[in-house]
Amino acid sequence: MRVCVIGTGYVGLVTGVCLAHIGHDVMCIDNNIDKVKLLQQGESPIYEPGLTELLRGCIASNCIHFSSDLGAGVEFGEVLFIAVGTPSLPNGETDTRYVEAVARGIGAHLHLGYKVIVNKSTVPIGSGDWVRMIILDGVVEREPELADAIKAGATHPPLDFDVVSNPEFLREGSAVYDTFNPDRIVLGGSSRKAIALMQELYAPIIERKYAADPNPNAPPVPVLVTDLSSAEMIKYAANAFLATKISFINEVANICDRVGADVVQVAKGIGLDSRIGEKFLQAGLGWGGSCFPKDVSALIHTADDYGYEAQLLKAVVQVNQRQRFLVIEKLQQVLKILKGKTIGLLGLTFKPNTDDLRDAPALHLIEELHRLGAKVKAYDPLVSQTGLRSGLSNVIVETDLHHLADGCDALVLVTDWPQFREVDYGAVAKVMHQPVIVDGRNFLDRKALEGLGFRYLGIGH
Ligand code: UDX
Repeated sequence: MRVCVIGTGYVGLVTGVCLAHIGHDVMCIDNNIDKVKLLQQGESPIYEPGLTELLRGCIASNCIHFSSDLGAGVEFGEVLFIAVGTPSLPNGETDTRYVEAVARGIGAHLHLGYKVIVNKSTVPIGSGDWVRMIILDGVVEREPELADAIKAGATHPPLDFDVVSNPEFLREGSAVYDTFNPDRIVLGGSSRKAIALMQELYAPIIERKYAADPNPNAPPVPVLVTDLSSAEMIKYAANAFLATKISFINEVANICDRVGADVVQVAKGIGLDSRIGEKFLQAGLGWGGSCFPKDVSALIHTADDYGYEAQLLKAVVQVNQRQRFLVIEKLQQVLKILKGKTIGLLGLTFKPNTDDLRDAPALHLIEELHRLGAKVKAYDPLVSQTGLRSGLSNVIVETDLHHLADGCDALVLVTDWPQFREVDYGAVAKVMHQPVIVDGRNFLDRKALEGLGFRYLGIGH
């Protein structure tokens, strides 16, 4: 099938490359010419395990192309994915201006043949019909004489298209894996023709042909076909639920701290209840990244727009904000005054296996430590290596962990990178000013560290 993916950000690029890999002809469109050039040379602008290899394989077999010509992409694709960014506005509302520009551009270039337009970007509930309207506006801007045909409900080209909502559930750092091993595929829309085309597009994935464990007896991936608004809501509700689970266990952790219970044991104990499940119960510094903060705020905002105060979700956000500063309280417990002290952060990214610093707890922590007069140093396996520094002014980013520890009054584990379990903490303790460690993810071996003379503080642990 011929597929056009508009937007080569995180979601668009992974989707485009994976669809090319399973046998489709893909054209990826981006208005950033430098990015297009980089991609044409087989270089990925984002770090995502496995992506570069797939990208290069697809380029070699000529099944993926990159361009900044939206018109060419619209003409090329039978299925057109809108995968541009939907950032948050300062009030928590979703900024849909990029989706709007793309929808208008699609309308301006629609000519012959039936097309399915897929909303892959996380868009506010109700956007499916809105995108349809904007595309039609784009068509009318080009061919004003079609305005009457639209009012009459004509469905001939260039008016012959359907909009489908197909939210993504990809985790950064596992996006390629998640694409080939999804828990479900959600398709929202009222056109049977469009839904059938989408099922055909995803058939190799639904049949698990690219699954990590290609068990021929495994049942196909569940496909939920629903209406547009419900599909859009599923994305928000899924992320809000996961964020709620984390804020919940963080709240329990804070109570554990006070009563002397261990949240790691508590999470294990409740997670064994199949109604609760063990995942997303890791207490720590809270959630960050490009999705949870944005999507929870957007859902709160949508509820507000419809006259409903989402009290639980507001509390979920508040618990998360407070959690980031817990580390400061713990440092103050041990070091008392932070002014003039040197704090070393282990990890900067919002989670391991990504170079993403968006809404990372580390950023808030750095800001607060500076405000209190501490000197902050940091080491992150990817940030230190790639030299990415955006949002990291006033932080000394060290190139290795021993330089980081040198002269520190305390270390704080911010990101649970597996490498941090392999460190020779005995040697680290020797170069520190005093061996104190706040384990913001309950990730390290407490007993081993205490055996080496560390003062260890976990989160409810
Ligand atoms: C998330 C969703 O998982 C994904 O389905 C959606 O498409 C995009 O948003 P991602 O942002 O990549 O994916 O990160 P995820 O692995 O879900 O972690 C989110 C945050 O929660 C991270 O900051 C992580 O450190 C934190 N987290 C996660 C916890 O604090 N505890 C946990 O138990 C799990």
